[in-house]
Amino acid sequence: MSVSTESRLAEVVPDVLAAIHEVLERHHVTEEEWHAALAFLTEVGRADEFILLSDVTRTSVLIDGLSHGGDESGATASDVEGPMYTVEPPFRDKIYEEYEGMGDDDPLFVRGTVTSTDGSALAGAVVDVWQTGPAGGYDIWDERQPEGNFRGRIRAAQDGAYEFQTMLPKPYTVPTEGPVGRYLEAIGQHPWRPAHIHFKVTAPGHQTLVTQLFFPDDPHLENDTIGAVKEALVRPVARHDDHLTCNFDIVLRPAG
Ligand code: BEZ
Ligand code: FE
Repeated sequence: MSVSTESRLAEVVPDVLAAIHEVLERHHVTEEEWHAALAFLTEVGRADEFILLSDVTRTSVLIDGLSHGGDESGATASDVEGPMYTVEPPFRDKIYEEYEGMGDDDPLFVRGTVTSTDGSALAGAVVDVWQTGPAGGYDIWDERQPEGNFRGRIRAAQDGAYEFQTMLPKPYTVPTEGPVGRYLEAIGQHPWRPAHIHFKVTAPGHQTLVTQLFFPDDPHLENDTIGAVKEALVRPVARHDDHLTCNFDIVLRPAG
């Protein structure tokens, strides 16, 4: 553990404990209730649902705001990564393969440029995207979909332009079959997220941007279960004869 990690722990942990102790005292939490809380957290760990718990309790949104809020550099707003990212998907311009039951929605072309805050094009920037399909959620939940479906990386051209072919995702529920699902039910919080596409964008000399792209008129824009919708990240979709388009220009902040 580095010295700076140790000093941050020494600074923050006593306050965390004081806050927990204060709540336990105020609510006269019993031994039985405390053991139930510990058992719940143990189960969350065993089910690998700590990121999900952080998300649905809106803690991830809080941390995103603390890390990136107040950025007035003109960079694209960041957003929560969520637990569904998988590393190094293939480089491809069409990020899905057809699968049975996916329906016959028109394809969606998402396009834009990747630039630095000074307006210069970031040639070769890598745009890494992941999303649910038009039916059936993420590839890892939906056995009809080939592994890695609706995931891909796109390299920006010399002028910073990028484009990929996908389909408009639909709203979906976060996983509800594990301990976090039981927690949501117990506190009466619905599990829905508005439709979105996740982005992780990297370019040399620039801070990595993790964000999400949302679409207007979604019934869950105002009540995302993880509270991650930012108005600046909602972009219109244009309908053409046999396809849809959505423009999403991305601005990265120089590192350091
Ligand atoms: C997601 O957007 O992929 C996500 C966020 C929180 C929980 C589960 C999934
Ligand atoms: Fe998602």
